[in-house]
Amino acid sequence: MKISVFGCGYLGAVHAACMTRLGHDVLGVDVIEDQVAALSRGEAPFFEPGLPELLVEGLDTGRLAFTSDAGLAADATVHFICVGTPQKPGENAADLRYVRSAINTLLPMLKPGDVVVGKSTVPVGTAESLRELIHGAQPEAELIWNPEFLREGFAVHDTLHPDRLVYGLAPTDAGRRAAARLDEVYATALGQGTPKVEADLATAQLVKVAANSFLATKISFINAMAELCEATGADVTLLADAIGHDARIGRKFLNAGVGFGGGCLPKDIRAFMARAGELGVDQALSFLSEVDAINMRRRVRMVDLAREVCGGSIVGRQIAVLGAAFKPDSDDVRDSPALSVAAQMQLQGARVTVTDPQAIDNARKKWPELSFAPTAAEAVQGAEAVLLLTEWPEYVVLDPVELRQNVTAPRIIDGRNCLDPVAWRAAGWTYRALGRP
Ligand code: UDX
Repeated sequence: MKISVFGCGYLGAVHAACMTRLGHDVLGVDVIEDQVAALSRGEAPFFEPGLPELLVEGLDTGRLAFTSDAGLAADATVHFICVGTPQKPGENAADLRYVRSAINTLLPMLKPGDVVVGKSTVPVGTAESLRELIHGAQPEAELIWNPEFLREGFAVHDTLHPDRLVYGLAPTDAGRRAAARLDEVYATALGQGTPKVEADLATAQLVKVAANSFLATKISFINAMAELCEATGADVTLLADAIGHDARIGRKFLNAGVGFGGGCLPKDIRAFMARAGELGVDQALSFLSEVDAINMRRRVRMVDLAREVCGGSIVGRQIAVLGAAFKPDSDDVRDSPALSVAAQMQLQGARVTVTDPQAIDNARKKWPELSFAPTAAEAVQGAEAVLLLTEWPEYVVLDPVELRQNVTAPRIIDGRNCLDPVAWRAAGWTYRALGRP
């Protein structure tokens, strides 16, 4: 099947490469020339395990190409919309300018029978208005809303082996025909028994933000419990293990620490609240502002803890931060709790050195006033406190005896509750964590 993918950022680049692997002919379209050039050379413009190999494989088949010339997408019959929907500056709402621009580019080239597939995360109601625009330009083209649930770091796996497929469509013959076309696109996953939920457009748009809101709520719930644990001397990791054994609760997404960040969870819960306000049901989501507040409080608490272990002041103190990415296996620093804590400490007078296996370049672009070191051993040179804020596997297995040789004062704050307190204390470190004695 001939497919076009509008937007070759995180979502689109992975989607284009994966659709090629599934046997389709794919053209990725993006307005950023550098990104198109890199992808055309088989280089991923961001760190995502497995993606460069998949790009090279796809380009070699001759069935994958990238272009900034959108007109070339006219041949395709299924068009995926994968552009970003960032938070509007100074507002909670999502910025839909890239979605509108992609649709406006696509409208004049739509043919009868074409299917437009929306994958971007949008405020509920957006798909309905896009469908009207599409029908205005080509009455015999159809829109399906097909949200994407991929996680950074596992994006290739999640796209090739989704845990579910959601189709939002109009209850018409044209809607059903479009769904059948999308079934052909996803024939491999469907053949492997991937569950499919067919719904109306509104439900499909809500599924995505509801899922991310639930995940954010789960993390903030355990972080709220961490606050209780800190006040009582209890251990939030044991509490999470214990409640996680209840199959109705589950242990996943119950890791307390410095909280959630990234390009999705924070902005999606805010955009969801903004949309609920427009719909007159803001009370239904008022709990999400508490979820957001708990999450942001973790960052403040981390800076306070650094101050505490440094004896009441971080001014002039040398502090090492392990991790800049918002989570391991990513070079993404968007709304990263690690980078936000590092920057706060620097602003409050500390001398902060940050290290990360993949995200230093992106972190430096965002916070050039921070110092950066290529390895943990170098970052902790002379440190009076070390903060572990992104649980990269290489940081989790750091040897506390070895690392102690490089620091001025052996104080570690485990912002992800991923170290063994017994081993670190035995090696002479002052060990502190969020929600753990
Ligand atoms: C998320 C959703 O998981 C995905 O389905 C959606 O498509 C996009 O948004 P992603 O942003 O890649 O994916 O990251 P995710 O793995 O969900 O982690 C989000 C944040 O939560 C990270 O900062 C992570 O460190 C934090 N987190 C996660 C916790 O603090 N505790 C946990 O237990 C789990």
